[in-house]
Amino acid sequence: MSVVPYKNQKEGKKAQVANMFNNISKRYDLLNHLLSMGIDIVWRKKAIKQLKKDQPKLILDIATGTGDFAIEALALNPEKVIGVDISEGMLAEGKKKIQQKKLGHLIDLQLGDSEKLLFEENKFDAVIVAFGVRNFENLEKGLADMYRVLKPGGKTVIVEFSKPKKFPFKQGYNFYFKYILPRVGKLVSKDNAAYTYLPESVQAFPDGSDFLDVLKNVGFKNTKCKPLTFGISSIYMGEK
Ligand SMILES: C[S@@+](CC[C@H](N)C(=O)[O-])C[C@H]1O[C@@H](n2cnc3c(N)ncnc32)[C@H](O)[C@@H]1O
Repeated sequence: MSVVPYKNQKEGKKAQVANMFNNISKRYDLLNHLLSMGIDIVWRKKAIKQLKKDQPKLILDIATGTGDFAIEALALNPEKVIGVDISEGMLAEGKKKIQQKKLGHLIDLQLGDSEKLLFEENKFDAVIVAFGVRNFENLEKGLADMYRVLKPGGKTVIVEFSKPKKFPFKQGYNFYFKYILPRVGKLVSKDNAAYTYLPESVQAFPDGSDFLDVLKNVGFKNTKCKPLTFGISSIYMGEK
């Protein structure tokens, strides 16, 4: 059974995830930075640095949401970043931000599903995802479609929450994720489920070598994992 945001609803995970992000889209950026105390910004920067040597020209940002990872990817001087997401609400917030920053000529945000990408194979120099893969309805299908649209020799860089293993970080993190984050998240987002779904989905999601196994299964080679901040998050990399 996969973890879904609204347990009493009959819709599948994908529809529920899209609804949930539509509900919280206006408060998403604020909550991200508040609940992570700004560390999420550092994590995205570190992840993008992994592509510095590759200098990718065309980048696909999967589950782009409000576009923060796509904007961060501009540090690589690409010709274009395309961001796709299944939540219209998140994309609307992202489009506003990109317009305000006058980045419309460099970043194009589109409605799109990672499990059914509307791009031809071998198109992108790099495919990136920040805090998106945990929300896929079918993880292998999503990763396999990312692999399909990546050019041979191209790289994927994925950032996702992971579970700290060592004392006292494990205990501190569990307390924060179980008792503090859901309460603050509910208060600010006004969505009852979104910030209980977050820790529950992290608990159920493969991390470290388990996630690298899934990447290898869909075809990625030279896979690597780089834990961040005591293992609260990890950067995963793979090549086609
Ligand atoms: C936690 S947000 C991350 C947004 C952004 N990447 C960031 O770093 O802030 C997760 C996003 O994944 C999107 N998402 C979930 N499943 C998806 C799928 N199958 N295809 C595309 N986007 C998806 C959600 O709509 C949501 O906007």
